[in-house]
Amino acid sequence: MLYHSNTGNTKLMADLVAEGAASVPETEVRVRGVAEADADDLVWCDGVAVGSPTCMGTISWQMKRFWDETALPLWPKIEGKLGCAFSSSGGLAGGGELTCLALLVVLMNYGLLTFGIPDYVAPGRTLHYGAVCAGRPRDNADREACHRVGRRLAEWVQTLLLGRPEHAPQAAAYSRQI
Ligand SMILES: Cc1cc2nc3c(=O)[nH]c(=O)nc-3n(C[C@H](O)[C@H](O)[C@H](O)COP(=O)(O)O)c2cc1C
Repeated sequence: MLYHSNTGNTKLMADLVAEGAASVPETEVRVRGVAEADADDLVWCDGVAVGSPTCMGTISWQMKRFWDETALPLWPKIEGKLGCAFSSSGGLAGGGELTCLALLVVLMNYGLLTFGIPDYVAPGRTLHYGAVCAGRPRDNADREACHRVGRRLAEWVQTLLLGRPEHAPQAAAYSRQI
């Protein structure tokens, strides 16, 4: 998980996304803030969930700088890894989905294979472009949205990159449509 967080909300989301990923067998997880992460972290992983606070309807400058500068020597050497997104915004409809899309666009520029998630994790609560929380994750739907992003990333890594189709989401025991 790679995140930036000014006041801790996206960090809380990152920890939940990491929990979701770690729930898939044979999955090893690192959680890194943009200030401490380096290019080796991206080389190490098979997939990355990237989280940013929504800032003026898009990615924080700190997250953008990571990809503009820190990760740049890796372009395009990390092509083919998997990537997905999450964001904490001030409020729903404040641009959280736009931020997820902006994050996915950055990942696509590096050649990562990005994906959306069609699941509903609670009535009226989906995460088609990634997980979005208004402020900190505060209820079960928020927590499940974050868990689901991490879980899906790990499931696709296991299925598509590591050849373990038993972890495909289509085979999942949990409910995908509520
Ligand atoms: C400079 C700045 C710009 C922001 N722009 C938006 C915005 O466009 N839409 C929104 O919903 N919230 C916006 N917010 C609120 C943050 O997205 C929100 O507080 C978020 O939970 C912060 O996450 P963090 O605790 O991980 O830093 C902005 C906050 C700051 C400081």
